[in-house]
Amino acid sequence: MDNLNLNSLYDLMGGETGVRALVERFYDLMDSSPEARDIRALHAASLKQSREKLFMFLSGWSGGPSLYIEKYGHPRLRQRHMPFSIGERERDQWLWCMKQAIDESDFLPAVKEHLKSRLSEVADFMRNQKESA
Ligand code: HEM
Repeated sequence: MDNLNLNSLYDLMGGETGVRALVERFYDLMDSSPEARDIRALHAASLKQSREKLFMFLSGWSGGPSLYIEKYGHPRLRQRHMPFSIGERERDQWLWCMKQAIDESDFLPAVKEHLKSRLSEVADFMRNQKESA
């Protein structure tokens, strides 16, 4: 029992299995929901690489193995999103998919709230378009 470590968000999400399941559901929703039509169009026809990259990123981000950094180096996420036009609409569509996927998960309520709040900040940070008033 002494190797039971539930200190990180990664562990609280169920480790690799839980993080992968969240990412799979997130992209399934993006792929099938009219609510996410605009951001789906920014992605390639196949979401296979997106699934793998977001899984690898969230693994390290949540305190698990730093898979993304090991393979691709520093995430520089904002910079990597510059080729895509991301305003409030795109941010909200991304968060719609993510919040839905989190709500459908079996994470503890406090873990769900924590994830939604922190990922809302990351998504907002990714905006690179000024909204016209
Ligand atoms: C705010 C709205 C967002 C939009 C519209 C968006 C869209 C995209 C698109 C079109 C790509 C390129 C295709 C791909 O490689 O998957 C991408 C890549 C990526 N996104 Fe996002 N994204 C958003 C927010 C986020 C957030 C909040 C995160 C992290 C929590 C994230 C993590 C990533 C990662 C890790 C990649 C792969 C980067 C690379 O190595 O090229 N994205 N995103």
